[in-house]
Amino acid sequence: MTPTNFAAPSGIGLDDWFQSIHLRTTNVGIVGLGYVGLPLALLFSEERFQVTGFDIDSAKVNSLNDGKSYIHRIEPEHIRAAQSTGFQATSSFAEVARMDAVLICVPTPLHEDHTPDMSYVVSTIEAIAPHLRAGQLVVLESTTYPGTTEDLIVETINRHGAKKRLQVLRDEPGRPKGSDRQNELDGVMVAFSPEREDPGNIMVPRRDIPKVIGGVDARATAAASALYGSIFHRTVPVSTPAAAEMTKLLENIYRCVNIALVNEMKQLCLHMGIDIWEVIDAAATKPFGFQAFYPGPGVGGHCIPVDPFYLSWKAQQLGLSTRFIELAGEVNEAMPHYVVQATVRALERNGVAASDATVLVLGVAYKRDVDDLRESPSLTIIETLQQLGVEVQYNDPFFPTVSSGRKYNLQMQSTPLEDLERFDCVLILTDHSIYNYGEIVAQSKLVVDSRNATRAIDSAKVVRC
Ligand SMILES: NC(=O)c1ccc[n+]([C@@H]2O[C@H](COP(=O)([O-])OP(=O)(O)OC[C@H]3O[C@@H](n4cnc5c(N)ncnc54)[C@H](O)[C@@H]3O)[C@@H](O)[C@H]2O)c1
Repeated sequence: MTPTNFAAPSGIGLDDWFQSIHLRTTNVGIVGLGYVGLPLALLFSEERFQVTGFDIDSAKVNSLNDGKSYIHRIEPEHIRAAQSTGFQATSSFAEVARMDAVLICVPTPLHEDHTPDMSYVVSTIEAIAPHLRAGQLVVLESTTYPGTTEDLIVETINRHGAKKRLQVLRDEPGRPKGSDRQNELDGVMVAFSPEREDPGNIMVPRRDIPKVIGGVDARATAAASALYGSIFHRTVPVSTPAAAEMTKLLENIYRCVNIALVNEMKQLCLHMGIDIWEVIDAAATKPFGFQAFYPGPGVGGHCIPVDPFYLSWKAQQLGLSTRFIELAGEVNEAMPHYVVQATVRALERNGVAASDATVLVLGVAYKRDVDDLRESPSLTIIETLQQLGVEVQYNDPFFPTVSSGRKYNLQMQSTPLEDLERFDCVLILTDHSIYNYGEIVAQSKLVVDSRNATRAIDSAKVVRC
């Protein structure tokens, strides 16, 4: 792969940088070795870069250094292959000084009151900043509100760097960029480049997802584009970090709003006896102007239920409103309760009161074939059913146990998928591809399906919701 597919402006002092990427001598540090950071570290390792992973979780660091994986889709062989090219994990931020590029992939969740929790980004940049040196590139990948890179990352680096005269590089009007600054990287380069991965999507390899990059100046954009261009097939430079931050939010808010739309239409269609999934598939045959989104029991994962609030919060700071986002959030958040009501009604039609019912929930992961239950609507649905007196069990091949998290406290173990006739209802919340839906329907008394996983099965036992 060529080191870059982005034509860097000339005379910006990056010759050594391009050369080191070409020779693979660039030391790449990835901070935050979770669902985003670890696969990214492995991609750079595959391309024979010298990669160091940083994480404050010593269990993860030890596991990786022992050649073990803690993410389902990453095999231990991948970790060991990376180790053979020099990959190592550490909790020591002093190692940052040895890095040429530092890519930050730490969580950006919400506080209870739905405001951005920036504590992970703040503590990360505070830990990194004292160890930075001239010529390094720092890139924030975590999803966040527009302005974060400038207000938090650049500000913190400049504050820590003030004493040692180390500042973030920035082209300033009137400041010469040409020959007198040739090959001179007298400060730190900073950019934002959002992670756009779609967990569980095996159709689009990660390298094929174009990498949007917004640097604080043209040099940072060029440096980051060269680095990412060595592993991603396409880089998409934008004019500022804020434009890159907003790009990621637009993508996820677009999904959130469209999922809310089909969730609302699903309720109407079910009421009118129309098959919403048939309607979506028919609409999707239009070669332009329509993109298919599918309804479900609500939205989950780290992005769709969280990211829109980052923009709403920013808008509020500016005295502006985001009505589409609020409405989409309202519709999506109501979906778990809609599923609970539909389940209770289906049980009652079978002559079973909720307080006497035993229900098996299929799938606690927030979507098909992923080992991630962050913000999963299944958790809310299980808790709400329990509050109604339902005895709930669950099965999920990815989660042998479910304990407690930010919004739930379940302490449950996955039930084997057998003797299904002992349950009054099997409730499909996550349509994992490992399940044999024909057998599940055949063995169950009643199946409530919130994912249309049983689309091929014609049975009076199935209730779609
Ligand atoms: N998971 C996804 O599919 C996905 C997709 C697109 C974007 N994102 C965004 O990427 C970012 C990371 O998400 P994730 O899913 O990888 O999170 P994660 O929780 O899986 O991983 C984050 C890692 O960062 C570590 N960490 C926390 N604070 C740290 C610190 N101060 N220093 C070093 N390490 C620290 C944690 O221990 C953890 O291992 C978030 O902003 C998220 O919104 C995630």
